[in-house]
Amino acid sequence: MAIWTDEELKARVRDGHIVESVEEMTEGYRKALVVQLTVQADTELISAPAYWMAARHAPSTNTQVSAHAIIQDELAHANIAYRLLEDLGVSKQQLVYERAPHEFKHPYGFDQPLENWAELVVANGFYDRAGITLLSDVHRNTSYGPLKRALVKIDMEETFHLRHGEVWMRRLAKAGGEARELLQRAVDWMFPMTVEWFGLPDDLKRHSGQLDYRLKGMTNDELRQAWMDATVPLCRKLGIKVPAHWSEESGRYELDYPFPCRYDAEAKEWLFHEGQISWDEVFTRWKGRGPMNEEFVESMRRSRSEVAAWLN
Ligand SMILES: [Fe+2]
Ligand SMILES: [Fe+2]
Repeated sequence: MAIWTDEELKARVRDGHIVESVEEMTEGYRKALVVQLTVQADTELISAPAYWMAARHAPSTNTQVSAHAIIQDELAHANIAYRLLEDLGVSKQQLVYERAPHEFKHPYGFDQPLENWAELVVANGFYDRAGITLLSDVHRNTSYGPLKRALVKIDMEETFHLRHGEVWMRRLAKAGGEARELLQRAVDWMFPMTVEWFGLPDDLKRHSGQLDYRLKGMTNDELRQAWMDATVPLCRKLGIKVPAHWSEESGRYELDYPFPCRYDAEAKEWLFHEGQISWDEVFTRWKGRGPMNEEFVESMRRSRSEVAAWLN
C-alpha cells in the first residue's frame, strides 16, 4: 500500500522529492518506471549483439578491441537496468530468457543489421548520441534515486562510445573514396532511423506519465532537437549530407523529408517519395520488429542453453 496518493506523489516529485524504494511508490509510478527501465535495459542488451556482429569488420585488431570494449560496457549497462527492475519486483530471468523476441522493447533501429565498419561507427555516432541524449535527461531529472546514481557511470561510458563513433566518422570522411561513400550510405538510412527513434511528436503525444512522475524532464520533440543540435553540425563539418536544415524562422532544425515515412528494411532505404504516413503505420512496423530481431535475441541466449545442456 503506497503511503501517498498518486496526486500527492506527483506534487512531491515536482518539488524535488527523490524516491528511494518501492514502498514510496504508487502503482502508477512503479508501472511507468518499469516501462522506462525495460526500454533502457533492452536497448543496452540488444545493442551488444548488433555491435558484436559488426565488430568483425573492424579494420585491425586494436580497433576490434575498442569495439569489444564498447560491447562489454553495453552488457554492463543492461545488467544495471535489469538489476534495478528486480528491485521493483520484475524477474530478470523472465525478461532476458523467457520473452518472445518480438516482446523486447528496444527501438526498431536496433533490429537492423550493421554490416560494415562505417555502419558500426555511425551507430556509435548516432545511436549512442541518442542514448546519451535520453539518459542524460533522465540523469538530470529523474525522481528515482537508485537510477540517478547508476547513470553517473553509464553516462561516462556512453561518452566514450560516442567519441569512438565521431572520431571514426571523421577518419572515414577524410579518407575519401569508398570509405566516404560507405559513411554517406550509412548516414542516409541511420539518420532518419534515429530521428524516428524519439517517437511521437509532442502535438500527437498523449499524456506522459513519465513527465508527471519526473522520470524524465524533456519531451520527445525536445529530445529529438537536442540530438539534431549535435548531429547535424557534425555531419555538415564532415561534408556528409543529412536531410535536415536549420530554420531561422522557427529557430530549430527541420526535416527535409516527410515525417514519419515508410522504410524498406531489406534495401535499407527510406521511401521519402511515398510521402508522409500515419504513426499507426509506424507502430505496426515497430511491433512487427526488424530483420535481425530473432537472431540478436537468440545470439545472447544460445550459450546459456548450450552450457546448461553440457552440465546436465
Ligand atoms: Fe549503453
Ligand atoms: Fe553505448
